[in-house]
Amino acid sequence: MAGVQQVPVHVEVALQPSCALEFSEIEQEVRRLIHGGGSTTIRDGPIDVSTSRVLSENVLTAKVTGLTDSGVDKVPFWHCDPCVHAFQLSPCGVEREVLDGDGDGEDVAAFDQWVLPAQELEGLWESLLLEDTIKAQLLDYATSALLFSDRQVSKHIISWNRVVLLHGPPGTGKTSLCKALAHKLAIRLGGRFQAAQLLEINAHSLFSKWFSESGKLVGRLFGHIAELAEDESTLVCILVDEVESLTTARSAAMSGNEPSDAVRVVNAVLTQIDSLRARDNVLVLTTSNVSKAIDLAFVDRADIKMLIGLPGVQARYSILQSCLAELMRTGIIDPPQHVPDCASELVRTALHTSCDMGVLAPARIGEGFIQLSYFGVLLFKTVGMSSATGCRVMSMGILLLQVAALAQGLSGRALRKLPFQAHAFFVHRSSTTLHHYLDALLQAVRTELQRRAQLETGSPV
Ligand SMILES: Nc1ncnc2c1ncn2[C@@H]1O[C@H](COP(=O)(O)OP(=O)(O)OP(=O)(O)O)[C@@H](O)[C@H]1O
Ligand SMILES: [Mg+2]
Repeated sequence: MAGVQQVPVHVEVALQPSCALEFSEIEQEVRRLIHGGGSTTIRDGPIDVSTSRVLSENVLTAKVTGLTDSGVDKVPFWHCDPCVHAFQLSPCGVEREVLDGDGDGEDVAAFDQWVLPAQELEGLWESLLLEDTIKAQLLDYATSALLFSDRQVSKHIISWNRVVLLHGPPGTGKTSLCKALAHKLAIRLGGRFQAAQLLEINAHSLFSKWFSESGKLVGRLFGHIAELAEDESTLVCILVDEVESLTTARSAAMSGNEPSDAVRVVNAVLTQIDSLRARDNVLVLTTSNVSKAIDLAFVDRADIKMLIGLPGVQARYSILQSCLAELMRTGIIDPPQHVPDCASELVRTALHTSCDMGVLAPARIGEGFIQLSYFGVLLFKTVGMSSATGCRVMSMGILLLQVAALAQGLSGRALRKLPFQAHAFFVHRSSTTLHHYLDALLQAVRTELQRRAQLETGSPV
């Protein structure tokens, strides 16, 4: 529409393995569906393709993604510029590559390999709930880096390496984010690359008995990667997890424990990463949870160094909310009940109000549900809910907010374990109501925080 600013909206369409249509036909049909206005506003989430015969016969799932990551809630369909990405998921799963250790037939696990987009990585990106626009920034970075390579921008004039470093506390989703990014790029850049692979190298394994005996095996490992990357129509994402072990190895060498071998391996890895940088279709993704211990020579090579911190209260709320949805899907919470989204007016008001009153401050959570009635009345006035259902939804949202507020300091990994701990220790039956489960979650958080404090002090709290 002339004069109206169009918003690019990414629509990812996973096709049935049996689909024999050209991707372009599917893309056209999806555009037609969106511009047909069946939904007046477009948001992140699944789209209904049942009104199109072509799509319902050929599509496994179709979803809008990336709006929330860029800080946009919804777009009216007439402002929507759909970028449709049709793809088929690879069912292959992960394969472990082994190399012959020292030529005597004894094998060493060298890396794990996925053909992308991989069935087992589908949905991982959406499951990661991070602050700000971290995901959008990463995707934009990788897209620009590959575009610059594609256009053959001179590396003598403009410098970029296609090396990413994600660092931060344990369990904050760094490794998952790298894998999910590789999967996402395989989908988003499907028009540019005919195939995509993800290779995960655990840096610890580089210093296994065989690897540390000489840098030769590192050469063989990277030689294999270079072979894969020779085909320029394949996107090759390399994940080097726990990259700080390069530094650990170097300092061990300095202190004289394992002299020259480790240094040789570290240098071999850095040289190999340098040589991979010359390949336009390679992206190197690295992680570390010991930010200060990363080899400076390595840090220097990364274009983008991103801190992935502990989740804030909103992210904690959304992570727990997704766990509750799974428990409802599987009948462990029964009957299913609506829990308001983090972006809903209710939750935003609650967060805002709590800032003024300290109602959700962890120190006051001990008063638990008693406080809820007072807080609920306040929100009732502010948000103006009048129906009984509205009040029930609101009270569940407030209970979940209290749990999320109390869970301050827990990583995404710890949060995703809480619903299980809650069930094992406090639910004691195969299925229960949402209200009861939230109560159990609150107790599980208190117990987890207590146990962590005991670990730190080494004595009962
Ligand atoms: N922000 C988050 N949102 C949703 N899930 C998360 C988040 N952070 C972590 N998780 C979940 O926690 C688990 C562990 O994540 P992952 O292994 O990627 O963390 P990590 O940062 O690499 O940890 P480590 O530093 O110990 O290697 C995964 O199941 C992941 O989905
Ligand atoms: Mg990790």
